[in-house]
Amino acid sequence: MNQQPIGVFDSGLGGLTAVRQLRRIMPSENIIYFGDTSRVPYGNRSRETILKYARQDMRFLRSFDLKAVVIACGTVSSNCLETLQAENNIPVIGVVAPAVQRATSLTKNGRVGLVATRASVRSGAYERMFHAMAPNAQLFSKACPLFVPLVEEGRCRPGDAVIEQVAKEYLAELKEKDIDTLVLGCTHYPLLAEVIGQVMGPEVALVDVGAESARAAWTLLTGQKALAERREGAASFYTSDRVEDFEHLASLFLQEDITNQAQQIDISRY
Ligand code: DGL
Repeated sequence: MNQQPIGVFDSGLGGLTAVRQLRRIMPSENIIYFGDTSRVPYGNRSRETILKYARQDMRFLRSFDLKAVVIACGTVSSNCLETLQAENNIPVIGVVAPAVQRATSLTKNGRVGLVATRASVRSGAYERMFHAMAPNAQLFSKACPLFVPLVEEGRCRPGDAVIEQVAKEYLAELKEKDIDTLVLGCTHYPLLAEVIGQVMGPEVALVDVGAESARAAWTLLTGQKALAERREGAASFYTSDRVEDFEHLASLFLQEDITNQAQQIDISRY
């Protein structure tokens, strides 16, 4: 048993898709979440900048006595996982391997799509993992840079003409590839699952990277006998920009009211 909290971070609100699942499958765990809303999106930046931001995010989270960190960000996981693992003496879990593992178990025809940020696609991390786990399968990737800013604006529901149009445009080429599985390779994208599902159709299975990273954390902590004792865990939320904006959207995404629970920090100090 281990009562230390689990740290979770993302460039913004997308990592809450991992928190939602962590709280569902590990309700006894204490969670500390940091969303770097003052610098989102990370996905259009260089690897150097993403690493600089991710190191600061880690340093902030490591100011708490954590038992593990979940990098609930496809962009950071794709570009910096190994570096952050080497620099930290606690388990650091990314989203790429758990998501690819799930996709390879779901696909029947071996044709899998990936939507992710530009930096994630450019890194080739999903492709490398995919080829290592399923050498005969084919991966078709598409960068969708407008998805993150739209989600951060709360423009993610069916019926919103802007997100529906953007999704149709981005997904058109993947629709022609006869894929039966689509990896939502950025933790913001599961918040668009309904919109993306409408475009792709019911025969395409969607893989939620946030949820898969939470399952990977559960597997790891169970193996290490490091789960928390059975009692209700708490979550604390930190953001690098206005708490009101963070709390409003985070409450919607988590389906839980977190008003007056977030704190703003100055990430440049870390
Ligand atoms: N949630 C992040 C990811 O998974 C968003 C990246 C961004 O800020 O562009 O990639």
